[in-house]
Amino acid sequence: NKLKDWVAKLPKAELHLHIEGSLEPELMMSLAKKHAVDLPYSSIEEVIDAYDFHNLQSFLDLYYLGASVLRDEDDFYQLMSAYLQKCREDNVVHSEIMFDPQTHTERGIGFDIFMPGFVRAMQYAEQEWGQSSLLIMSFLRHMSEESALQTLEDAKDFLPHITAVGLDSSELGNPPQKFARVFAKAKDLGLKRVAHAGEEGPPDYVWEATNILDVHRIDHGVRSIEDASLVEHLVNKQIPLTVCPLSNTKLKVFEHMSQHNILELLEQGLLVTVNADDPSYFGGYLNDNYHALIDHLDICQEQLRQLVQNSFSASFLSDETKQHWL
Ligand code: ADE
Ligand code: ZN
Repeated sequence: NKLKDWVAKLPKAELHLHIEGSLEPELMMSLAKKHAVDLPYSSIEEVIDAYDFHNLQSFLDLYYLGASVLRDEDDFYQLMSAYLQKCREDNVVHSEIMFDPQTHTERGIGFDIFMPGFVRAMQYAEQEWGQSSLLIMSFLRHMSEESALQTLEDAKDFLPHITAVGLDSSELGNPPQKFARVFAKAKDLGLKRVAHAGEEGPPDYVWEATNILDVHRIDHGVRSIEDASLVEHLVNKQIPLTVCPLSNTKLKVFEHMSQHNILELLEQGLLVTVNADDPSYFGGYLNDNYHALIDHLDICQEQLRQLVQNSFSASFLSDETKQHWL
């Protein structure tokens, strides 16, 4: 397929990627063995068979379980290296990578363990392959405001390596306003802001993320389409949506890819981008997500070009670097 080859070779940016969600079953099993972590899987096949989700929470349970094998600096280095190598294969020249510190600090694994591993892999990719990347520190919204504030405090020595804060995990029942003070503090520290909203949650959560958390981007945001005045607001402010097609079908936000609303979002003038979210759990990296759109939607080359251009315009790159890629 010519369109698939064309988009695969285009330089692209990825803006919504959880590094813990790029942990492949092979690495998970080998680290489990290395650290004698008891997982409820006896083979790679059993891991893959378990990835049959019916909503966000059923995925998150296995995602946190998988992350429990990450223990020392080299584990985090290997995890980040493997993702950046995939980027190289997919022509992802720039990535903005989320990590969930609380998933690790809860287990006694601190910033001094995972940050050096992440940064070492990112510096290698930059120096050897010319790939740029930056980090987004994401708070777990099912945990307390206090825990998020503590996480911001724990990150103090590593802020030069962190560009933005984010908000992820169980959306329903954990509205953005729960983290109003955390995000205000992050803004004071000079950090940029993104938040998951409108994945499973209602359009009101997207309103809160923009109005209360003052975010630069909405992660997912596909349910924004249910509120015409919200769409108008996002279009006027050009607040990007980082959409994740394979994630949305795996987690049953849409029953089938043919029902995905990304083309409607694009048609309404929204700054939409394509992303992989948790590629190891959802069956594909960035090019696989573009290819799924080509397979199941009536998408043309111009729309694909727009999505790729949006990935740079919606990024935290400098205007000068954006111009280079646009
Ligand atoms: N954590 C990792 N992936 C996520 C997603 N798609 N939504 C919410 N939290 C997440
Ligand atoms: Zn996500």
